[in-house]
Amino acid sequence: MDQNELKKAVAKAAADYVKSRLDERTVVGVGTGSTANFFIEYLGEFKHDIQATVASSEETARRLKALGIAVIDLNSAPEISVYVDGADETNEHLHLIKGGGGALTREKIIAAVAKEFVCIADDSKLVDVLGHFPLPVEVIPMARSHVGREIVKLGGDPVYREGFVTDNGNIIIDIHNMSIVDPRKLEQQLNQITGVVTNGLFAMRPADKLILGGKDGLKTMS
Ligand code: 5RP
Repeated sequence: MDQNELKKAVAKAAADYVKSRLDERTVVGVGTGSTANFFIEYLGEFKHDIQATVASSEETARRLKALGIAVIDLNSAPEISVYVDGADETNEHLHLIKGGGGALTREKIIAAVAKEFVCIADDSKLVDVLGHFPLPVEVIPMARSHVGREIVKLGGDPVYREGFVTDNGNIIIDIHNMSIVDPRKLEQQLNQITGVVTNGLFAMRPADKLILGGKDGLKTMS
């Protein structure tokens, strides 16, 4: 199987999992990216059995609506039963780097609310130490230089994501060349920098379940 087929396989497994746990109150949080897009396709097959979805980006909302799947504002959702999303990197503790697609803030909000966070990925995303993938940080535009200088003090190389504006009207700085040996500590340190909206480390609230696809089949970690 190539990488796309693996993404499709884990998306199908997540859809089957969600389907097996449905009740009339089920609101599904839906992630952003190519793996989440496959999940959206499968969700369409049982759209009438779920109460609604909450989307982690404008792009995801557009895709859900195009399939006739109900999308509601998070503030109108009584709860989110399960949130399904991809990741850019994961370690064995289910600490993640997310935000390659720039949707990290809304993704983190949904993860914070969700009763269960199911991450889906092909096994190229599993690493021993996070940080090969540049860590995205969403920043208020006027704080760009300040945040960049603070990132240098923490030992990273900040790179401004040129021409990209988040759904919240902010910019992204990607941190390169940082070996993240203590993800929970770094997540908190970055959150303390004035002007940072969110960072793409999901360690304080990791995934609850990880469905990984590889050449030997699917593996679930929790
Ligand atoms: C978007 C994300 C995605 O989950 C992450 O970038 C993985 O994307 P893909 O499924 O396309 O590999 O965090 O902000």
